[in-house]
Amino acid sequence: MTKKIALYNHKGGVAKTTSIINLAYSIQKTGKKVLVVDCDTQENCFSFFMTARNADSILPTDYENVSHTTWARYVEIADKDTTAFDYILFDLPPAMTDEVRQIIRHCGVVYVPTMLGEFEIQGLEKVTVEIARQNARLGGIFITMYQKHNDAELLQEFRNALQARLMQTVIPYSRTVRESQKAGLPIEAYFTEKKVPRNGNSWKIVNAYEQLATEIMKGITV
Ligand SMILES: Nc1ncnc2c1ncn2[C@@H]1O[C@H](COP(=O)(O)OP(=O)(O)OP(=O)(O)O)[C@@H](O)[C@H]1O
Ligand SMILES: [Mg+2]
Repeated sequence: MTKKIALYNHKGGVAKTTSIINLAYSIQKTGKKVLVVDCDTQENCFSFFMTARNADSILPTDYENVSHTTWARYVEIADKDTTAFDYILFDLPPAMTDEVRQIIRHCGVVYVPTMLGEFEIQGLEKVTVEIARQNARLGGIFITMYQKHNDAELLQEFRNALQARLMQTVIPYSRTVRESQKAGLPIEAYFTEKKVPRNGNSWKIVNAYEQLATEIMKGITV
């Protein structure tokens, strides 16, 4: 059965799109077929994966098991042409519009990336309440752009407060994220191309996205 997952936070710039791209890459490595649906008018995901622009509803990427589309194209074909995918990942914009509510209801399960800043933390309650209001399930909250020297104490407090709602995986800050995006590649593909040794410190973020993919694939019950 196809599993539909949205990544959402009404706060902007918390790595929703970065996480979708790298999760798609990690999930396809396990042999599963992934469709990425860009629901944001910024179309960051769509332009990242785009290899050709044509009238097809679902477009290929450089990765055999990853396809992509936009929400507008997806609604035209939903359910009949998407059953071949194991996972459909929805990249949402940083706003709670009627369309975002509709997408959240369509997915049924939502993961929330957040940074450990004060404003980000303050906004989380509203996000989780809104997810529940749409009768969707909170799959989990995960930390992005974690910097140990700044965030370690806060992470512990956060874990104590959120308990099981906070996922085990923590995505570290890495300046190679921007480099990889500039090169138009998921982080692992970028490191592989650059022949960065796998045991190096910089691979921590790749390992983290792999761990996140595993947590998500295990945690889905819908
Ligand atoms: N782990 C990371 N380490 C360093 N930089 C990161 C990391 N994750 C994301 N970034 C950078 O942070 C910025 C915001 O990331 P991204 O666009 O994925 O966030 P977003 O939540 O999708 O934003 P928006 O709300 O605008 O859609 C980008 O410039 C991205 O390269
Ligand atoms: Mg985005």
